[in-house]
Amino acid sequence: MNKPLVIAIDGPSGTGKSSVSKAVAKHLGLSYLDTGAMYRALAWSCVASAIDLDDAESVAQHARTFDLRMGMDPAAPSVGVGDRLIDREIRQDAVTSVVSRVATNLDVRANMKQRQRDLIAEGSAARGGCVAEGRDITTVVAPDAPVRILMTASEEARMSRRSRQLRVAAESTRSQIVDRDRTDSTVSQFTTAADGVVTIDTSHIDFRQSVEAVLQVVKEVTDGD
Ligand code: DC
Repeated sequence: MNKPLVIAIDGPSGTGKSSVSKAVAKHLGLSYLDTGAMYRALAWSCVASAIDLDDAESVAQHARTFDLRMGMDPAAPSVGVGDRLIDREIRQDAVTSVVSRVATNLDVRANMKQRQRDLIAEGSAARGGCVAEGRDITTVVAPDAPVRILMTASEEARMSRRSRQLRVAAESTRSQIVDRDRTDSTVSQFTTAADGVVTIDTSHIDFRQSVEAVLQVVKEVTDGD
């Protein structure tokens, strides 16, 4: 049996990482896993269950037991807790503004790492491989993935991209982009590439060119096999 094609993509917010990862998964017929959505789902579920986000042990306990369901079809990815789909809820400010508090809990990260490894294996079994994106996929979750990419972009490019997505002024995205990344980077290293990880700087290239750049890296790796 061929080795599954696991493509690990990390990077800060606003690099185009999610839309590019989804498009690459679609193009190659692979599963797609948005690991940031998993942390967002946990934050949402803690708030919905009235768990105090400052109570690290209760948050970690909830991470171990909550019924997280990730749909990994890149054409229609979904996030649910139990039977409830929460794709819209996890993108709201109420979640975005608190998600770092659960994502910086080390017990939570240990649990998520295992869930993410299991999901990558499940997604790979279903479609021959999986594109998994986040902050620590190339380094912690799937350090042995055959393709490992770090997507970067200048602060200015990231703020302006996010402001277009949210239809707000670039400056008002600073707290979402720069401050959140600063907090998140206390627990994962996603601003410089680890050994063997290919960097793609998307500051001056558009969406289509970013997808092409990832596909080119994949081609080089798979041609070399
Ligand atoms: O990529 P995003 O904005 O949806 O990520 C949500 C949060 O989860 C963000 O604070 C970073 C964190 N995260 C993480 O710590 N590790 C990952 N593998 C993915 C996301």
